[in-house]
Parts: sequence; C-alpha cells; structure tokens
Amino acid sequence: MYKNIITLLDLEKSDFENLFSRAIELKKKHKEGILETPLAGKTLGLIFDKHSTRTRISFETAMVQLGGTSIFISAKDTQIARDEPVRDTARVLSRYLNALAIRTYSQELLKEFASFSTIPVINALTDLYHPCQVLSDLMTVIEYKGGYEDLKIVWVGDGNNVSHSWINAAAVLGLNLVLACPEGFNPDPEIMQKALGRGNGKIVVTSDLFEAVKDADVIYTDVWASMGQEGEYNSRKIVFKPFQVNSGLVKQAPRDVIIMHCLPAHRGEEISEEVLEGPLSVVWDQSENKLHMHKAILETLISNSFVKK
Ligand code: CP
Ligand code: NVA
Repeated sequence: MYKNIITLLDLEKSDFENLFSRAIELKKKHKEGILETPLAGKTLGLIFDKHSTRTRISFETAMVQLGGTSIFISAKDTQIARDEPVRDTARVLSRYLNALAIRTYSQELLKEFASFSTIPVINALTDLYHPCQVLSDLMTVIEYKGGYEDLKIVWVGDGNNVSHSWINAAAVLGLNLVLACPEGFNPDPEIMQKALGRGNGKIVVTSDLFEAVKDADVIYTDVWASMGQEGEYNSRKIVFKPFQVNSGLVKQAPRDVIIMHCLPAHRGEEISEEVLEGPLSVVWDQSENKLHMHKAILETLISNSFVKK
C-alpha cells in the first residue's frame, strides 16, 4: 500500500481502480445527502506556495465533509520562509497533522518533505506533476465514456506538469495517450522514458495536431504558460497559437469527443470561448470531481496510515 501520492507511479492499477470506485460511490452518497465521517478528529495541513482555487478549496471541503478539518498554511508565513529546514518542518508537522497536501515549485522539495514525514504527503501540484488532477480527470472520463480502456486520449499543447501526470497514468493503466505539442515543448524526455519503461500504455508524442485528434475520444488542453513560467508568456503565445482547441479543430474529431481542461482556462488562447462553453465540454464536472476524488484520496491515505501506526 502506498503512503504518499508524490507521482502517479506510486500507485498500482488496483489503487487507481479503488480510488475511482470509492470516489464515484462518495459522489453518489453526497448527492443523496448521505454523510460519512470516517476522518472525524483528523487534520489535513495544506502548504501552498502557488495560487489555487480548485485544489485548495476541494481538499478543504473534502476534509469537512469527511468529518475532519484542515489548516491552510501559506508557505511564506511559516518558518520555512526563514530557512528552517524542510526535514525539521516535516517531522514537526507529522506530530500534529494526519496528512499534508503540498503545492510548490520543486518536486525535490516535495520528495524531501515526504521522506521526513511520518504522515501521508500528497502532491497538490509541482512544476513536474499534478497527480490528483489526473485522478479526478480519469474519474470524469469513466463517467462520460464508461471506462478508459480502448479510448484515445489526446493532450494538446504544452508538455507540462499535468501532461506528465497523464503520461504516468497511461504507463500504469495502459492508456492510449497521444501528446500533440509544438516543437520544443514536448514532455520531459526522462519522464517519457521512465513511463515507457513501465511497459504499459501506448504513449506517443507528435506535432501533427489535426492527425492526432481525428479519432480522439478525449481532447485535453491546459494553459500555454504554467505558474512559474509567466516570463515566457509572450513568446509562448506565438508558438502555441496553432495549438488552440477551437471549433475548427474539434470538427476534425468524432462527434462524441469530450473536451477537457483542468482550469483555470484562458479563453481565446489555449481554448476558444465556444468550445469551453460548448456542449462537448465537461470542464465543470471535471472541477466538481476534484472534490469527490480528494475525499477518496484522503480517506484512503489517512485511514491506512492510522491503521499502520
Ligand atoms: N486545476 C487546478 O489545480 O486548479 P487550481 O490551480 O485552481 O487549484
Ligand atoms: N499547468 C498549470 C496547471 C494549473 C492547475 C500550472 O501549473 O499552472
């Protein structure tokens, strides 16, 4: 059993399946007004040093709905910002909290936190990965398509943190994933190699966007410049322009394709207003599912760590 979710390679296929079914069950119970509070008395700490709307609020709400509580910790207000070592902070926080969700720049820093924490550590986005996003996205794919086997998932745009988590998911679940990226903006080759080494999944990188979407079941896009890349925004806008998900592109895909975006979206940049707001877009369900998936993740990680101690 995994202790942390640092990358999706921490999980086996059965772990994904358990999270999907529990998240779907929790969503159903939530809609029926049935409250389960397995995390009463438990506390989640959230250390964030990048902006967030969805991830922060869905994790915090998830804790409340599961009977627990959460503490939002802006990294700049802690002693970390005054150079207290991460390894000390991790050990101290482990004495108070039951789990930590961290959003930061460096994957290495997150790994250091995890290695010194005795409580579960959850990656709530780094420069390299956004694993919980892709878990809830796959839940949405299952809801709309009845499963993920035999689907073609097409990533459009930057080979960024979210795309890396899709690559890892493809490696564990055996997905058919095509990443259509402008030249120079492919996913990290080391992450690709590691995923391909896992032996599952058909993971292909191309710059031929129109060919890629021809038989797509899912088209997924994200911002052209991620948090931390603001300085590259103007130059990226030029390179990425032909990779906009707009109705011209969507017309090349099958009529039952679904359009996904992790949000926040920049209308008129990576996605057009009419596609984002159009009938094929599932972005609001995607956002909602972050709540249900985060509940499944927290329940699984915190209950298991409790049993282990
Ligand atoms: N999708 C996502 O992670 O959104 P936030 O940056 O608002 O958390
Ligand atoms: N790739 C984006 C995702 C935001 C949820 C970023 O890192 O800014």
